[in-house]
Amino acid sequence: MNWPGLLANYKEYLPVTDETPALTLQEGNTPLVHLSNLSRELGIELHAKVEGANPTGSFKDRGMVMAVAKAVEAGSKSIICASTGNTSAAAAAYAAKAGIKAIIVIPKGKVALGKLAQAMMYGAEIVEIEGNFDEALNMVRAISESSPVTLVNSVNPYRLEGQKTAAFEVCDQLGQAPDILAIPVGNAGNISAYWKGFKEYHEMKQSGLPKMYGFEAEGAAAIVQGKPIAEPETVATAIRIGNPASWQLAEAARDESNGMIQSVSDAEILEAFTLLAKTEGVFAEPASCASIAGVLQQHKKGNIPQGAKVVAVLTGNGLKDPQTAIGEINIDTTVLPNNEDQVLDYIKGIISN
Ligand code: F0G
Repeated sequence: MNWPGLLANYKEYLPVTDETPALTLQEGNTPLVHLSNLSRELGIELHAKVEGANPTGSFKDRGMVMAVAKAVEAGSKSIICASTGNTSAAAAAYAAKAGIKAIIVIPKGKVALGKLAQAMMYGAEIVEIEGNFDEALNMVRAISESSPVTLVNSVNPYRLEGQKTAAFEVCDQLGQAPDILAIPVGNAGNISAYWKGFKEYHEMKQSGLPKMYGFEAEGAAAIVQGKPIAEPETVATAIRIGNPASWQLAEAARDESNGMIQSVSDAEILEAFTLLAKTEGVFAEPASCASIAGVLQQHKKGNIPQGAKVVAVLTGNGLKDPQTAIGEINIDTTVLPNNEDQVLDYIKGIISN
């Protein structure tokens, strides 16, 4: 069967009415990949929810399809969002599909190349500000209150409704909820959406509840530090956020699930970023790898029991941010003449090593 997309597949779990347009780019139904090599090394059962397999390459498609469908249903002709990149790519794509306008406000110079290319290609109106995500979000919240444009950041409740479907999929793919769900935390919408999803599914299907382990980047760890960060900084630009909008919901997810929200350093994020690609063949963007970095960190601290079923959410595709990848690897490619003998000699050397 051709996958129908989230709104059709999860109709009865979502605020979908007869008037809701059947918007879809076939989002959702992403793979849960068993990370067998890391699992063996750590003595746990580690899986990755590969959200980079969504149509625009991140989990944002789940929330955006719902938010844009509801905006169109309400008669809106344009949407607006602040973004560190992925939200803007998703907003632009779904607006294009729905035939409405997308306006995005982004921090200048702090959005990964692939995401910017996407917003441009999907035809969004792009505004860059000399400010960070938090400032951009304040701006678009105010603008959406005074102008006829729908805000599609995760403070729009339809976003979390769409995003909660990832928790349903994890339960179905694993047969039950995992023991631990590890997830990057930026604006804190996704951890809140997953927890909502796990709770709703458990109520309907007795699928169990995981401990929620959220991970912020150290230079942007407002929840961990208990105070907003005025000038957040991290290599993981997607989660370069100093005042998460869903702060309270994230703390509730942590506390109700007996979980934790901790921080991981840029060094830990980059180590997980390369390790994941090299040992598992999975290329996820740096912010996504905060979940893997967090699993490694907490495993070292003894906070993940042997044999535990752990799902790490890989929120975005590695191709989004080629510059960080190339900067991190720092290996020159080998340039040889167009001569088979010379190429063969070189390759023989590699194979025999
Ligand atoms: N991972 C990626 C790849 C993201 O793009 C984001 C958020 C997060 C994790 C954190 O999710 O905000 O729900 O806690 N990106 C937003 C954006 C802020 O504008 O694309 P969160």
